[in-house]
Formats: sequence, C-alpha cells, structure tokens
Amino acid sequence: MLDQQTIAIIKSTVPVLQVHGTTITTTFYGMLFEKHPELLNIFNHANQRQGRQQTALANAVLAAAMNIEQLGNILPVVKQIAEKHRALGVLPEHYPIVGETLLAAIGQVLGDAATPEIIGAWAKAYGVIADAFIGVEAEKYREAAEAPGGWSGFRNFVVTRKVRESEVITSFYLSPEDGGSISSYSPGQYITVRVQPGGEEYTHIRHYSLSSAPGQAYYRITVKRESEGIDKPAGVVSTYLHDFVQVGSILEVGSPAGDFVLNQSSDTPVVLISGGVGLTPMVSMLETIIAAQPVREVTYIHAAINGSLHAMKDRVADLVKSHPALRSYVCYESPVEGDKCDKSGYIDLSWLQEIADVNSEYYFCGPTPFMKTIYKALKEWQVPDERIHFEFFGPAGSLEE
Ligand SMILES: Cc1cc2nc3c(=O)[nH]c(=O)nc-3n(C[C@H](O)[C@H](O)[C@H](O)COP(=O)(O)OP(=O)(O)OC[C@H]3O[C@@H](n4cnc5c(N)ncnc54)[C@H](O)[C@@H]3O)c2cc1C
Ligand code: HEM
Repeated sequence: MLDQQTIAIIKSTVPVLQVHGTTITTTFYGMLFEKHPELLNIFNHANQRQGRQQTALANAVLAAAMNIEQLGNILPVVKQIAEKHRALGVLPEHYPIVGETLLAAIGQVLGDAATPEIIGAWAKAYGVIADAFIGVEAEKYREAAEAPGGWSGFRNFVVTRKVRESEVITSFYLSPEDGGSISSYSPGQYITVRVQPGGEEYTHIRHYSLSSAPGQAYYRITVKRESEGIDKPAGVVSTYLHDFVQVGSILEVGSPAGDFVLNQSSDTPVVLISGGVGLTPMVSMLETIIAAQPVREVTYIHAAINGSLHAMKDRVADLVKSHPALRSYVCYESPVEGDKCDKSGYIDLSWLQEIADVNSEYYFCGPTPFMKTIYKALKEWQVPDERIHFEFFGPAGSLEE
C-alpha cells in the first residue's frame, strides 16, 4: 500500500499531468523506442505517428492517478486494457522498462518542478499500478492457455480460403497448422494477427474481429484494404493480407480476446448497427442470434458508401429470407445507379425511431465519426448506458462530443 504522503503528492500532480499528460507520453515514446527499438515489434507504428496511442496512455495514467487510493474503482478499465495487452503479448518484464522511461519523461518535461519527492512518489505509484496490470494479465494468459483448444502467445494458422466480399473487403478463413482444436469465442471478440511483410524491419500486430458465429473448426476474419491516399501511406497489414497472403500462407495468430460481446443470457430485442468494415462483429452476432436464439428479435442496420463497398450483402439478405425475427436495413451515403437501399445519406435519430425500438440492446461498430453519431442519437433517445455497447477498431477513445 502507498503511504499518505505519496498519495498526497500523486494527487497534487494530477493537475500538472492534465496539462502535460500528452507531452509526457509523446516524450516517453521517443525515449522508449530509442532505447528499446525491439518494442517496435509490438507497438502499432501508425497509431504512434497519429498520436492516438499517446492520448490513450495519458488518459489511463491520469485515471490511475486520480484513483490511486482505490485502484479497485478502475478495475474495469484495467481489465479492458489488460485484454489488449494480453492479445499483443505484453509481459511482466516489459513493465520496468516502461516505468523507468515514464519517470525519465516526467523528469524531462517537468524540469525543476519534478522534485525527487515527486519522482519518488510516481515510482511507487507506478509500481502499484504495474502490479495491478501484471496480476490481471497473468490471469488472462492462464485463461487463454487453459481454454479447450486454447493457447497463450501466438500460434501458426494456415489460410484455407480467401473470399472477396466487396471492392475493398476480403475474408480469410484460418485453420491451425498443427491440426488441433481451437478455442471458442463470444461473438464480438477479435483475434490478433502478427505478420512481418518482406522488407519490414519489425513485426506488425493487428486485431481483427471474428466475422462468423463461433463453433467452426476455423476462424474467419474480414479485412478492409487501407489503400494509399493523397496524404497517407497504405496500411501495412491490411494491404499485406490483401496483396500477398494467399490460400496456403501461414499467419501467426493470438487467441480470441475482447469484452465487446453479445449478451446471450438475455432475450431483449437487439439492434446491431455497423458502418463499413465495422460489420464484422455484427455479422458474427447476427449469425449467433439466429443459430442460438432463433426467436429473439433482431434488427440489423448497415451503412456503407454505396453498393459496391457493401460487404456480405447476399449473406444477410439470405438470412432475412429464412428468419422472420430478423429485419435488415441498409443506408448508403452516396448510392450509385442500380443501388437499392432503405435510406440515403446518414443514419439519424428520426430514422432510428422509425425502424428500431428504444427498449432494445444496442451494439454498434464503425469509423469513429459514425460511432459518435450513433452514440449521440441513442443518448438523445435516452437509451440507458447499460444497453449501449460499442467497439473501436483502434485505440479505445471517447464518443462524447
Ligand atoms: C478490436 C479491433 C477489431 C478490429 N477488427 C477489424 C476488422 O474486423 N476488419 C478490419 O478491416 N479491421 C479491423 N480492425 C482494424 C485493424 O486492426 C487495423 O487497424 C486495420 O486493418 C489497419 O491496419 P493496417 O496495418 O493496414 O494500417 P496501418 O499501417 O496501421 O495504418 C492505419 C491507417 O493509418 C494511416 N496512416 C499510417 N501512417 C500515417 C501517417 N503518418 N499519417 C496519416 N495517416 C497514416 C494508414 O493509411 C491507414 O489508413 C480492428 C481493430 C481493433 C482494435
Ligand atoms: C501501467 C502501465 C501501462 C498502462 C497504464 C498502459 C495503458 C495502455 C492503454 C490505455 C492502451 C490503449 C488500449 C486500447 O487500445 O484500447 C494501451 C495499449 C498498448 N499498450 Fe499499454 N499500458 C501500460 C503498460 C504497457 C507495457 C509495459 C507495454 C509493453 C511494452 C505496453 C504495450 C502496449 C501496446 C503495444 C498497446 C497497443 C497500442 C498500439 O500499438 O496502438 N503497455 N496501453
């Protein structure tokens, strides 16, 4: 436990952290990769360059500082982060490296204001926070390894099918190279893929939601190609998967993870809403509800730019034909000639009110601006938070304006 003086110092530095939090973590990452370039095998370089990860870490440290007396208050957040850490292969020996670098970064940014007392207090606090993460992660590694068909770390999988779903989206079916069984998952969870494209100095790790219902001998992921744009390079892993990975290729895969999961113990009507490639966890949930809870009412709303970018259209249309409890709606941002949709433009509250029921469980996933729109509409409609569930396809952030 931390002594009262340490707690007082930590609390008094929260306002300083609020001002300098992101600068400290940006400095921290510069120092970390200079001294430990091997960690570039784990961290997402694009998130670093766009500052997304810096904000997530800064927020987490701040949340921990504010709750330092009662870390139990932030246990749900710790569990969420630990879930990602486990999927990425973060290990106890990484914590002291991060801790030392964080203290050095605090020292550099605060200058003389970082007195030995402050640095000492933060060293102690970091130790407590790190122990909490290491403990939760140890449990998660154990659970992953002990699940039937489960494993900890990465395991080789063979690509057994590669199926084009739209102009930019392709599915990959993955079976374990060792021929063994695979752990099951809850619809909404993701697996983690580690690749090292030719010419790349480091490995690159990405998460991909499982896009089919559990219970098969394979995993299916469905990936959008992040092409090069005027002001952005091509996505490293998605273009590698689309252009170089073929049937027979081997991919390293981390076992299923994630807390964005369908609540199957309830029979409350469900509304699933996806934008673009955010359809992957939704299709898994949809297939699961149909198989396991065939009378549960489900409304599936999908938004895409137009028909040519609309993946799994036929699959969902087939499900609608054979399942009276399923209703499906499509919204195209800019429909082109021949496209059929229920709405053009963007999903808004008045349309949601026409086609969905306020008393449902809501699950959604898509680009962040799309998710902000949906979240705002649901809040305006007074859907309670406990019935609103969403997944970020990147570092978790806030959907509040
Ligand atoms: C839980 C979870 C589930 C996910 N599920 C799916 C899924 O089912 N399907 C799916 O397709 N994706 C999914 N993702 C996203 C996926 O993990 C990858 O982020 C995505 O495939 C892009 O990876 P990449 O390596 O191709 O792109 P990266 O190389 O990581 O780049 C990401 C984006 O940043 C841009 N970028 C890179 N550098 C810069 C720069 N310097 N300046 C400006 N822009 C830059 C790139 O052009 C690209 O658009 C999921 C993510 C999470 C966290
Ligand atoms: C107490 C210490 C730590 C805290 C508070 C922390 C916090 C976070 C947070 C908030 C995220 C974002 C989660 C999300 O995407 O939703 C994250 C992701 C991540 N963390 Fe940590 N972390 C800590 C220690 C570590 C350590 C020791 C490592 C290993 C070197 C590590 C590696 C990563 C990686 C690789 C990611 C994914 C980020 C990306 O590449 O985009 N973290 N962490």
